[in-house]
Amino acid sequence: MNMTDVAKRGLVLLGCGKMGSAMLEGWLRTGLPPTSVWVIDPNPSDWLKEQGVAIGGEIPPNPAVAIIAVKPQMMSDALPDVKSLGNGKTLVISVAAGTALGTFEAVLGPNTPIVRAMPNTPASIGRGITAIIGNAMVQDDHLDLSEALLLSVGDVVRLDTEDQMDAVTAISGSGPAYVFHLIESLAAAGMAQGLSAELSMQLAKATVAGAGDLAEQSDENPAQLRTNVTSPNGTTQAALEVLMDAKTGFPHLLRRAVAAAANRSRELANG
Ligand SMILES: NC(=O)c1ccc[n+]([C@@H]2O[C@H](COP(=O)([O-])OP(=O)(O)OC[C@H]3O[C@@H](n4cnc5c(N)ncnc54)[C@H](OP(=O)(O)O)[C@@H]3O)[C@@H](O)[C@H]2O)c1
Repeated sequence: MNMTDVAKRGLVLLGCGKMGSAMLEGWLRTGLPPTSVWVIDPNPSDWLKEQGVAIGGEIPPNPAVAIIAVKPQMMSDALPDVKSLGNGKTLVISVAAGTALGTFEAVLGPNTPIVRAMPNTPASIGRGITAIIGNAMVQDDHLDLSEALLLSVGDVVRLDTEDQMDAVTAISGSGPAYVFHLIESLAAAGMAQGLSAELSMQLAKATVAGAGDLAEQSDENPAQLRTNVTSPNGTTQAALEVLMDAKTGFPHLLRRAVAAAANRSRELANG
């Protein structure tokens, strides 16, 4: 199955809020005909109504793919709308955080090919990273198609087992919030050194964004990039001695923070 099959047999999108719209915008931009898309959403946005896709009508009986992008707490209300697509030839892809493959199998039937995906919020500007895992019915071509569809909102990585989702959630799913807090803290520290709130925030945002881009684009790894800007007994070294402290620095703090998030993800999964 590939994007040609999607254009021919159709794509059903269940839930078209922030994540659904970001994905749909990418698919339409890269050539999926709007007439191949059926959207189910109780309150379609003005943007959605202008896209030329079918909204709220009857869905086709055998679409290539159905994408589930409703909030996890709305899942039990929303899933029955696509129950008729279960146990057939339609690939179901869910981007709902924390909803396990087994939950979809219970409603749609165990013979449904289902891919669970975990995107993150930079997906809204096409800079997300999404981890995917399929159930036992999923073949390589299903994963290839899932990857092709999710590439519209950023990078895609494949997992080996579903239980890796808890750690992925703790790193890339919740991770943007850690980085936002780093920006806040860096800006506050600049203010403590006498800079205005505005200047401090501008410096902090541009520094985190620029360093992130450099880390991604450079052939050197982050440890080497760090070493490159650290001259002996200079200013960066003075700060890094605080940040790299074995007991109170970043490594210790982040290991605790990530463990707390992963444990919470496991707790939520177990109800
Ligand atoms: N935003 C992100 O960056 C992000 C990152 C990782 C994972 N996710 C996952 O993506 C999913 C969607 O998140 P979101 O941020 O896009 O949420 P959202 O903006 O609230 O979008 C959900 C959409 O589904 C609609 N909806 C509610 N009940 C429905 C039903 N019964 N049938 C069909 N549609 C229904 C909502 O309509 P109303 O607004 O009228 O209720 C809304 O338009 C979530 O499961 C979340 O875990 C999102």
